[in-house]
Amino acid sequence: MSGTFGTGGDEPYRGLLGAEAAGPLVLRRIDGDGPEISIDAARWLGLATDADLSALDHARAPLLDIGCGPGRMVRAAADRSVAALGIDVSDDAVAMTSADGTPALRRSVFERLPLEGGWGTILLMDGNVGIGGDPRLLLARCRELLAEGGSLVVEAESQPDLLETAVFIAVDDDGRESGPFPWSRVGRIALRELVLEVGLQLDDEWETSGRYFLRARRADSLGTTSATAIATTARVQITASESR
Ligand SMILES: C[S@@+](CC[C@H](N)C(=O)[O-])C[C@H]1O[C@@H](n2cnc3c(N)ncnc32)[C@H](O)[C@@H]1O
Repeated sequence: MSGTFGTGGDEPYRGLLGAEAAGPLVLRRIDGDGPEISIDAARWLGLATDADLSALDHARAPLLDIGCGPGRMVRAAADRSVAALGIDVSDDAVAMTSADGTPALRRSVFERLPLEGGWGTILLMDGNVGIGGDPRLLLARCRELLAEGGSLVVEAESQPDLLETAVFIAVDDDGRESGPFPWSRVGRIALRELVLEVGLQLDDEWETSGRYFLRARRADSLGTTSATAIATTARVQITASESR
């Protein structure tokens, strides 16, 4: 399965990024199993909200926002004098982030990145723990990217016990459909287990404005070998599927 979030088909994510007034996106499972999931994607085009900003409390530079979209979190980090970089596979998202000089790179998290093992803070906001459809592999990749003592902030789904991976399409207000892409949805209970599994330590968890966040820290070099092995497997698997 080679697609990424909202791409292919009628390119609804691209349409949303280009729109003056963006409506919501819905995610629909291609097997038709389960209800549609509505995403408040318009929020991504605005300024960071107070709930977004809570993810930057205790943020240490340099900060990496994975799947940065149009860049509100990278901008907000810079406003707090935290040096930050956004990465995204979408050309449009990277162009929108970079338009005002905000640093962004068109790169998959599973490709080689600058400062591997040197990031002070990594963000996985807006459900981005779903990227690639294998949250354990993604979290292990994040651990590999973090500096010792660095923190990963992940936004969880509101349903605490949720752990779902499926192939979805994204559909916009006008019925424009993307191609299929693998995506996962992770509630905070499963998230706690997964971050521990990849060798991170839980630091904090909080809820604000109906959104749930978890902060985990790379405490020391113990377990580096296994986390790197998981992350290497992730890169190989995802690069192979992206090139199919
Ligand atoms: C759910 S949207 C989140 C939007 C975003 N956080 C924002 O502020 O607009 C997922 C984002 O992740 C990006 N993405 C998908 N796969 C990716 C990958 N392998 N590496 C980096 N970014 C990716 C998508 O292009 C999209 O911008």
